[in-house]
Amino acid sequence: MAGGSGTRLWPLSRAGFPKQFLVLSGNTSLFQQAVARLDGLANDALAVSSPVIVGNEEHRFLVLDQLRELKSEPGAVLLEPAGRNTAPAVTLAALQALESGLDPVLVVASADQTVTDGEAYTAALRSAVAMAAEGAITVLGITPDRPETGYGYIRAESQVGGARVAQFVEKPDLATAEKYVASGAYFWNAGMFVLKASVWMAALDKFRPDIASACRAAWAVRSTDAKFVRPGKAEFLAVPSESVDYAVMEKCPGVLDIRMQALDAGWNDLGAWEAVWQVAPKDAAGNAQVGDAMVSDSRNTLVHATSRLVSVVGLDDVVVVETPDAVLVASREKSQDVKNIVNQLGREQ
Ligand code: GDD
Ligand code: MG
Repeated sequence: MAGGSGTRLWPLSRAGFPKQFLVLSGNTSLFQQAVARLDGLANDALAVSSPVIVGNEEHRFLVLDQLRELKSEPGAVLLEPAGRNTAPAVTLAALQALESGLDPVLVVASADQTVTDGEAYTAALRSAVAMAAEGAITVLGITPDRPETGYGYIRAESQVGGARVAQFVEKPDLATAEKYVASGAYFWNAGMFVLKASVWMAALDKFRPDIASACRAAWAVRSTDAKFVRPGKAEFLAVPSESVDYAVMEKCPGVLDIRMQALDAGWNDLGAWEAVWQVAPKDAAGNAQVGDAMVSDSRNTLVHATSRLVSVVGLDDVVVVETPDAVLVASREKSQDVKNIVNQLGREQ
């Protein structure tokens, strides 16, 4: 899934070049890291197809160029005329997969994350695939270290692999997140879903038949141009916008077989500048500098310069991001609220 807008990483992340295509940690973009991470999944027991990318029409050449850099050949690139959030995106991938006449397990991965331990990631995904092959909807759970409100929370019946999920709560408010973390009983949802294509379609038919039928209608009139597959434009624009988490995951526990595989692989969602600072290499005072940046008498500050020298003196816990036409200066802990600025700017950003 590579069709998000990444508004909280403005001004670097723009509508035409959103965060998943930016190089924010390491040498490749988050999208490239997500694709490369899946490379090691195949083994004697597991045949893995080429990646299927679901993204926005506007980013089709970014997707192809970045895959080419990796020497990765996509199975297909499914292009949405406009984002309708992740439930329709997964549905397009499921409908595409079912075309084969088989009912493969889908490893649904997000394109906006970093992972430091690739082997642990692969091992966790292989266990998730094994559970999904038996019909379970499988999510990956991260042990939380702070009451993050931008994530989904999972309460599993036990801490061991394959635990049944008793509750799934998407983006709780701060008081609820604090309670969940303090209880020690909750995991973060890593934003990856592993399940058979038919299991996804059946779950969507059960919980959101409106989304399922609107997606089928758009898929029925799709057009294909080499690797690009486009659902019908008017039909897809009529699909209700909803995330996988709200449309299906919150509703599954107690109704469908939903399991959690723990993931301990240095996972991070680079959702906001705070998280970019977290994963960046830092000096002894906790400052991270990218590009032509200078920092003096400051602590725990991120300075990201792209087009000129940016200097910061005597500032703590601040994020400064400079681009040719926009500059952001924000308190690090308020970096989630950058989306408010982008909302004010509208699509023109
Ligand atoms: N194709 C497509 N179309 N992709 C999309 C769309 C869309 O309309 N909207 C978002 N995506 C992609 C994003 O680019 C990202 O790779 C992924 O889907 C997840 O979307 P986000 O918008 O980043 O979701 P989130 O971070 O708020 O929440 C999800 O991930 C968290 C962990 O990172 C949820 O699954 C949470 O429960 C989870 O904790
Ligand atoms: Mg995200």
